[in-house]
Amino acid sequence: MDNDRFAVVVLAAGLGARMKSDLPKVLHEVAGRPMLGFVLDSVAALEPDRIVVVVGADMQAVAELAAPHETVVQDPPLGTGHAVMEAMKGLDGYHGATGGGDVLVVYGDTPLLNAATLRRMLDLRRQAEAPDLVGLAFRPDDPGHYGRVIRNSSGRVLRIVEFADADEAERHIDLCNGGVLLADAPLLYALLGRCGQDNVKREIYLTGVFGLAFQMGLDARVIETDSEEVLGVNSRADLAVVETVLQTRLRARALADGASLVDPSTVWFSADTALGRDVTIEPYVFFGPGVSLGDGATVRAFSHIEGTQIDAGAVVGPFARLRAGTTVGAGARVGNFVEVKNTVMGPGAKAMHLTYLGDTALGEKANVGAGTITCNYDGARKHKTEIGAGAFIGSNTALVAPVTVGPGAVVGAGSTITKDVPGDALAVSRATQETREGGAARLRERRKAQRGTEPEEGET
Ligand code: UD1
Ligand code: MG
Repeated sequence: MDNDRFAVVVLAAGLGARMKSDLPKVLHEVAGRPMLGFVLDSVAALEPDRIVVVVGADMQAVAELAAPHETVVQDPPLGTGHAVMEAMKGLDGYHGATGGGDVLVVYGDTPLLNAATLRRMLDLRRQAEAPDLVGLAFRPDDPGHYGRVIRNSSGRVLRIVEFADADEAERHIDLCNGGVLLADAPLLYALLGRCGQDNVKREIYLTGVFGLAFQMGLDARVIETDSEEVLGVNSRADLAVVETVLQTRLRARALADGASLVDPSTVWFSADTALGRDVTIEPYVFFGPGVSLGDGATVRAFSHIEGTQIDAGAVVGPFARLRAGTTVGAGARVGNFVEVKNTVMGPGAKAMHLTYLGDTALGEKANVGAGTITCNYDGARKHKTEIGAGAFIGSNTALVAPVTVGPGAVVGAGSTITKDVPGDALAVSRATQETREGGAARLRERRKAQRGTEPEEGET
């Protein structure tokens, strides 16, 4: 490597046909995040001079995810080598007449790749007598359809053969291509220019450069990494395997960081779930993206939580559903069969049973009775409900938004509140109860007379 300058090319233009999906492959999520996001994090950690992401036609969503990194459109996608070629057209500062530097190619469908391994490859290229090309290889339990790396006895790579093009003997080779390549930019550009499409898929394979390099007397090597790290996602089954690996890691990290998981294997995290110390998570809890838990918070069993900040000492669940835009204040309580969306619950506030709170601000220590519903949607628009500090909402209340219940106010059970309730007021809106002494007994007598018999058990 002439100098330390290097650019990264991330390939994300493939159609991902084996996913059988309308969504571009690299946008499929693992641990609540598109897999391309993981790859971009790993390469950004290397602080390269440039990152270029190759996207396909009509992959605006991929380009948006890649931003602020630059993108190049590969249309049509003619193979991994072609994709790198398209990216390098915009990297002439690296391979042009005055250029210099290395190019690191990674695939957007290997989300478990980590920066430390990529650094090992960069270090190898920075050594005296460095190889001209450095690839990344692994030995998976099932080599499946990965490309096979063919080396001579001194470890030089003779070529990489794709599964589709390999003969029986080659398919028995267990050293597989992880898809990462680091090379001197002018050399790589020249090699790609000589790569043909003489293969089963009629594509320009990036892997073709290894065979060409050997024929030119160049030195190509691979470093090996563990088989998990370069799991390539080509199918839904692969995606599920990667998800399992990530969940295992996230659970281990949570435990190591001081969270208690009663049954770790039943808790599902997102990559960005942030846990304080001494949090307790009971079995069967799902964390979607954007959740943080403060110190000492508890999430009880069977809760589904996304986009929510849970402050210190709060207790949520069992069977709670917390949706985007929610804050559960310090020491607040959300009980069973309660759904909360875009709502801020103040410290010590409570909604313990069978409630929906949407677009609501709930003051400190306010108490929401069982079966309360904020009617936030009028069929066209959403409206806000405000409940002041220390207010008490009786059970089975409908709060028809927009509406405000002032601090310290009390709403009687079974009310439908359509007008604002001032602080410290008592509001009741329900039909007045009528009680007729002896009315039930008279009713039974009348029925008995009609039937001419005693009622059966359970009848009145
Ligand atoms: C590729 C390698 C294989 C390796 C495996 C590792 C080639 C020819 N084969 O196979 O040796 O073992 O990865 O996971 O490189 N892409 C483009 N444009 C294209 C084609 C693909 O950008 O024209 C992108 C895809 O979006 C994907 C990546 O390149 O992110 C790899 O393509 P994929 O089709 O998954 O290659 P594999 O068959 O997995
Ligand atoms: Mg792949």
